[in-house]
Amino acid sequence: MRVKLAAGNWKMNGTRAALAEVDTLVAEHGAASVEVLLCPPATLLGAMAERIGEAQIAVGGQTCHPEASGAHTGDISAEMLADAGATYVILGHSERRADHGESNDMVRAQARAALAAGLKCVICVGETEAERDAANTLDIISGQLAGSIPDLSTGESLVVAYEPVWAIGTGRTPTLDQIGEVHDYIRAELERRFGTGVGRSVRLLYGGSVKPSNAADIFAVSNVDGALVGGASLKAADFGGIIDAL
Ligand code: G3P
Repeated sequence: MRVKLAAGNWKMNGTRAALAEVDTLVAEHGAASVEVLLCPPATLLGAMAERIGEAQIAVGGQTCHPEASGAHTGDISAEMLADAGATYVILGHSERRADHGESNDMVRAQARAALAAGLKCVICVGETEAERDAANTLDIISGQLAGSIPDLSTGESLVVAYEPVWAIGTGRTPTLDQIGEVHDYIRAELERRFGTGVGRSVRLLYGGSVKPSNAADIFAVSNVDGALVGGASLKAADFGGIIDAL
């Protein structure tokens, strides 16, 4: 049985004042029956982990460097994320792929480093609108899965997030059939590569304009085990509504 996961990606949002939202989340969802994860900017990670304390909310990073330490100004290693209290890291988000040129090879190297540091990886895949229009969605997803996920992944350490690029922050979402088609495809690809044991235990999240009003419908789709939420994870009331829908 896969444990449902509601993950919030704060992206480049939030200063210490935003930790008040975390207090609300802890009070109202700190003992949820599903798993809850918050991925704040690195500057807030340690403070957020301390603020959460013993509550059942995990914290994670939004990327990491493939090396453990060294001359890489501005970068953060997986070990450093773990030291700050992270147990997860998001890797291969389309914004990292687009803004920082992170290739599948780079994401796989980051994921290897994350696994070595004991972090669980949320590896993101998703097509652009042009790729969907050209009927290339499944090919793109296939290439990203094959290239970005390291061989050492396990059902416990790997989460895959399907985030169509055109649905991120736009208020547009694929149809439920389209989400189901891609999630079923990802499940089949994982089973083919890792075998049914691992393939069936990896959690698959949908991401892209998830909000309290559409969450329940999306969560009812086959092979959707939760969500990776951007904008709606910044406010405890909205994120709480999504957690409640899981
Ligand atoms: O990683 C989550 C994300 O890209 C989705 O963002 O704002 O559309 O929920 P949003």
